[in-house]
Amino acid sequence: MPVTRRSFLTSLGAIGGAGALYGAMGTLGLAPAASAATPAFRRPSPSDFALSGRSAASVVVLGGGIAGMTTAYELGRAGYDVTILEARQRPGGRNWTVRSGTTETDLAGETQRSGLGPGQYLNAGPARLPQHHVTLDYCRELGVAIEPFVNQNADAYVHYTTDATGEAPGATAASGRTVRQRTAKADTYGYVSELLSKATDRGALDDLLSAPDKEALLDFLTGFGDLGSAVDGDPLAYTGSGRRGYAVEPGAGLVEGTTDAPFSRSDVLRAGLGRSIPFELGWDQAMMMFQPVGGMDRIAYAFEQAVGVQKFRYGATVTGITTLPAGVEVAYTDAGGAARVARADYAVCTLPPHIAARIPSNLGAEVTASLAHAVPVSTGKIGLEYDRRWWELEDRTYGGITNTDLDLSTIWYPSSGFHGERGVVVGYYNFGGNADSYADVRHRVRLERALAGGTAVHGPKYAQGVTSSFSVAWRDVAHSEGGWVSWPDQTGPEYRRLLEPTGNVHFAGDHLSHAIAWQHGAIVSARAAVTALHERVMSA
Ligand code: ALA
Repeated sequence: MPVTRRSFLTSLGAIGGAGALYGAMGTLGLAPAASAATPAFRRPSPSDFALSGRSAASVVVLGGGIAGMTTAYELGRAGYDVTILEARQRPGGRNWTVRSGTTETDLAGETQRSGLGPGQYLNAGPARLPQHHVTLDYCRELGVAIEPFVNQNADAYVHYTTDATGEAPGATAASGRTVRQRTAKADTYGYVSELLSKATDRGALDDLLSAPDKEALLDFLTGFGDLGSAVDGDPLAYTGSGRRGYAVEPGAGLVEGTTDAPFSRSDVLRAGLGRSIPFELGWDQAMMMFQPVGGMDRIAYAFEQAVGVQKFRYGATVTGITTLPAGVEVAYTDAGGAARVARADYAVCTLPPHIAARIPSNLGAEVTASLAHAVPVSTGKIGLEYDRRWWELEDRTYGGITNTDLDLSTIWYPSSGFHGERGVVVGYYNFGGNADSYADVRHRVRLERALAGGTAVHGPKYAQGVTSSFSVAWRDVAHSEGGWVSWPDQTGPEYRRLLEPTGNVHFAGDHLSHAIAWQHGAIVSARAAVTALHERVMSA
């Protein structure tokens, strides 16, 4: 029997629910395909047990981060008896907001105590939420207020000391300069448009473009690059634009505004002035973005409350995992250092894989090797609290991120508290070798280096009026030992092994997703584990 499109959709709707129906509509071009981005999830429900004669199981969840709490929340609301073992004294894991009085001792033995003022905070871990991430659905459901997070700001800056060609220090007029992002973009788009227009106009692309194609492309590039604005000039030339900003701003009466001449074509290309543009086009990094009002840990505490704080055993460090013919035993030391055992029908292990790999278990050498296959990634941040918001007062930069090729990588201006008295700038957020180079030194040296780097970008004001600071090197944070992990590959046997339960132990975490280093990844992975576990219980 031929399947018409309508009957195909109807039958899908009957079997898979609205999510599958909508996803299929996207595939057929009837609805935005992005609606299929978050894997469909059918929540376990207490009613699943009502008529089946089965009852919910007990589950011990290893780790009270976002994956562990999503697991506990979804299973708990269906009636499962959940217990979370969490080594820290707070929920959230890497979802961690540093505030006044936050105290942390790192694995190198250094203790920092935050002196941040009232209302000031540093999101040491996750700090931005894309619109399509399921994290926002949990914010809505759990009552976590959100506000815009400024991930791109035309009035933030770029600062590149090296050339795109690798020449260091850069030898162009744009090298070592602090340039507004709007300027870097206007000049990059301008010259790229000029070059492509001229190649098109000279027939260099005639094997690829029809005459109407060429006309349409030239028309687009004229607007995209703001070409031909010079009176009587070459209509295909980029000669600057108000888009790059003004030396004299447009004003009253006869003040039209004056723009500086653009950087030269060669300088723009060789300086790599456009090198940060690809980042903001990323699926996960494009505006609009959001943050919870008051700090990212509002999500963690909302989950804690929704799960029920009595379900958490804080200060519980897992020391052994044993899967049994029926059930699991998880050994741990409690906050007082006493050895204890948690028993349940199932376990869901959300610990960082490189840490789980060191925990004695009977899960087998292949599982241990699979966990150890993940490679921790180093990343770090420093929060700099200032006694005045010079980035707003002097630079008129309201939120956003400056991109550099200095070892500090990026400088973030706060997306909240506008026009307030104080504010916390993220003085560096960097990765890999740059992050290691800050992790290798103590906080005092990190601060000195961050201020020196920021001074190169912003001038002497950057080192003035700093009232407190707090740095986090995730490599050396107990119970995390990294910002996130990378896998040599996500198709091989090691990764796949962890997608399946071993005995009565399931695994979850952002590391078992294709949204690593996002709470979204933790949540969708947890929901996959919840679904697998629930299906087992329902068919047992
Ligand atoms: N998701 C992390 C970020 O946005 C890696 O920086």
